[in-house]
Amino acid sequence: MKNVVLIFSLFLFLFTSCQEKHRETSLEELKFNEPFRPQFHFSPPSQWMNDPNGMVYWDGEYHLFYQYYPDSNVWGPMHWGHAVSRNLVHWEHLPIALYPDENGWIFSGSAVMDVENTSGLGSKENPAMIAVFTFHNPTGEKEGRDDFQTQGIAYSTDKGRTWSMYEGNPVLKSPGIKDFRDPKVFWHKDSQRWIMSLAVKDKISFYTSANLIDWTYLSDFNPEWAAYGGVWECPDLFPLTTADGETKWILFVSINPGGPQGGSATQYFVGDFDGKSFSSTTQATKWLDWGADNYAGVTWSNVPDQDGRRLFIGWMGNWNYGQVVPTSPWRSAMTLPRSLHLSKKGDDYLLISRPIEELKKLRASNAEIKGEEIQFESELIELDLRTKSSDFRMELSNALGEKLILTGNNQTITLDRSQSGIIDFEKGFSSLQTAPLNGINVQSLTVYLDRSSIEVFVNNGELVLTSIQFPNEPYNRGILEGFEASNQMYTLKSIWR
Ligand code: FRU
Repeated sequence: MKNVVLIFSLFLFLFTSCQEKHRETSLEELKFNEPFRPQFHFSPPSQWMNDPNGMVYWDGEYHLFYQYYPDSNVWGPMHWGHAVSRNLVHWEHLPIALYPDENGWIFSGSAVMDVENTSGLGSKENPAMIAVFTFHNPTGEKEGRDDFQTQGIAYSTDKGRTWSMYEGNPVLKSPGIKDFRDPKVFWHKDSQRWIMSLAVKDKISFYTSANLIDWTYLSDFNPEWAAYGGVWECPDLFPLTTADGETKWILFVSINPGGPQGGSATQYFVGDFDGKSFSSTTQATKWLDWGADNYAGVTWSNVPDQDGRRLFIGWMGNWNYGQVVPTSPWRSAMTLPRSLHLSKKGDDYLLISRPIEELKKLRASNAEIKGEEIQFESELIELDLRTKSSDFRMELSNALGEKLILTGNNQTITLDRSQSGIIDFEKGFSSLQTAPLNGINVQSLTVYLDRSSIEVFVNNGELVLTSIQFPNEPYNRGILEGFEASNQMYTLKSIWR
């Protein structure tokens, strides 16, 4: 009997210590639960993040690297942080991929899979993942030189887990222009060459290479009529095909400042690329997103043909106030991933940004909304609303009277965050965000509300507004005016729990 008691006690001891351990793990998981911590958007565990970098798909994983400063929650000597996802919704944080070296800090850039081993840095059996990025040399900058930004490469043959700097770095030196950065590289099938788009002060320069190491200048793109309110950054060039089977090339150029809501934003051009130069078909400035908080976004490379989507993510921030937003111990998040599409309207083209289908995995419960007043228990919400016309008003608020107001009329759509919560960290933060409808007839709104952001997709992506806000309590009620009698609301699950 004694023995039985002993064995039982031992069992009880083991069982309770297992329980303890389990409790510890779940406390650990609570880390992503700080005030304002995005619950279904990517954010770094702590410290400063800006641009998404090096997005590439390989062997079942979407890689997301990002501009990262691990020693502070404001911008500083840049590294590449790293995360992977199997579904673009749930993310696994990985160790820092690239550290500054004698060539400089690691600024923005891209990553490709060198499947034909053109660089010789991997093999055809085990192709190298190659990151192409900007070295920013702070010493050269301090000395007043004008060639302190150069392009370098690094490679990994173990699915991005460990990285080696290429010994011959830099692979592309500056012609003596201070702003010479953010290489975005793709394999151009027609010319059987790599093409690099590079932001060079107020133009995009294109370069070509057979091996990702030796680069030759091709051409510049800087039409008179484009937006030049600030320095050009983070280009991306890729083809999209309309529903009628017409293929055009899209060129993204982020600019800071000079965006439509002040500060940073991304303009895009629709045109043709012949392997050497890009020419724009239409001559009007077009904005990828009309909200204040979508910058430096680019698209994933190497997405399998069977998938066929052009997948995008942007930095959900703005250089006007990104470094002073009231969050800790991290600063900033990425937008929701989106798939990009091209539609033709008369002689003009429109880029459509849609929330990716995978986000439906986040839906926890569904409620039909009837009438003008809504209540919601969860702070994580997707609203699928049908409007009666372009004349509508949506107000989301909390018991403190803090609110976000979205209104439409026949000409414009406006987001007002002037009473949204904490707004006093920067003067311009409370400005109205107004977008012209340019003939879009508003029929539906898809709204994603996270703890500190809202994304509004008009007519499934014909116009997008991405914006951040910091309510002192979660919004938990809404007023809808000008909508159909019945609409859908989903509560969403956190991706961190
Ligand atoms: C854009 C940008 C890039 C640069 C990086 C530095 O936000 O200014 O041009 O490479 O951030 O962090």
